[in-house]
Amino acid sequence: MAKILVTGGAGFIGSHLARHLLARGDDVRVLDAMIDQVHARPATSLPREAELVIGDVRDGDAVRRALAGIDAVVHLAAEVGVGQSMYAIDRYVAVNDLGTAVLFQALIDRPVRRVVVASSMSIYGEGLYRDADGAAVEDAERRGGDGGWEPVDAAGRPLVPVPTPEDKRPALASVYALTKYVQERLTLNVAAAYGMEGVALRLFNVYGPGQALSNPYTGVLAIFAARLLNRRRPLVFEDGRQRRDFVHVSDVARAFLAALDRPDAAGGVYNVGSGRDRSVAEVASALAAAMGRPEIEPEVTGKARKGDIRHCFADVTRAARDLDFCARTDFADGLAELVEWLAAQSANDRAEEARRELERRGLVA
Ligand code: UD1
Repeated sequence: MAKILVTGGAGFIGSHLARHLLARGDDVRVLDAMIDQVHARPATSLPREAELVIGDVRDGDAVRRALAGIDAVVHLAAEVGVGQSMYAIDRYVAVNDLGTAVLFQALIDRPVRRVVVASSMSIYGEGLYRDADGAAVEDAERRGGDGGWEPVDAAGRPLVPVPTPEDKRPALASVYALTKYVQERLTLNVAAAYGMEGVALRLFNVYGPGQALSNPYTGVLAIFAARLLNRRRPLVFEDGRQRRDFVHVSDVARAFLAALDRPDAAGGVYNVGSGRDRSVAEVASALAAAMGRPEIEPEVTGKARKGDIRHCFADVTRAARDLDFCARTDFADGLAELVEWLAAQSANDRAEEARRELERRGLVA
């Protein structure tokens, strides 16, 4: 049994991770600023058995208090919108990078065995491609506009997307990606310098119950689900053939457990994906079917979101080798679970409205 501190642990991934840690007998302390977004979230809430310390990761005193008696840290505290990061630059750099710096400053005096940081597939920019001769292309760019969605080589021939391994050169195309890369590097550098073990997990497109429904910048499955619940057509950007790797949050929680435990993981960087790639149009249709609304077809907008990449999906070989980690949630089962959770959310929402209405009319004590 160990005592684990999870920074930013009251959110989507942290709540699932806390449940997994508690289930295997660990003690869990969460340091979370409980920003409005989290309060407002129809939460898959943090289990009661987890100790919640409310505080900002940039507050050295709060971090030092949270570290008392801790054996290992999972660092999730971060601002997480790619689009938003491009206009809230100071906030993203402060929370993500200064926050990580403050955490490590405190860890110098009170080291732990291991620190596992949540990094992101966004650091890759475009995923890895191969050209017509089979050569790897690390710096693919798309032309965009007028239907030219696919990255092409210098001769205009289409490139073929392939699974992206950890050693692909980063292409830090957003402030968010930049801050995530700094978090990752700070963790590996400073942990090693002070006799701790650092591990970075590059998360792909995480989905599942508890996912933020209100963030317009990310979480395409939650966005589509919210549309479908309201009998609206999901809006599919580009032509819908862009491919991603959707990984269920319970698999992500298991990856964190492995990253905390496995001896071979020390100092490593790992992709956490399902190892399967799917097109956005395909997931829109699958979700509509899972929700019993197969007749609601996605609307293909033919427009690209600024800064979006075309394809990126995980090469999961290294995680399988060092972490013995393999995602195991079947996509159809994961969708069914998401749909069930979403239905309960709207039921809760109506209940809340009803309660307020009764209160307004003086009908509840
Ligand atoms: C991005 C980041 C990822 C980050 C995640 C959470 C990149 C390359 N990836 O993932 O690192 O962890 O956000 O912040 O920056 N889409 C639609 N219709 C919609 C919404 C989205 O078609 O209504 C499409 C998008 O164009 C995209 C795909 O769905 O092709 C996935 O979008 P999203 O869920 O926002 O995640 P990413 O951009 O892949």
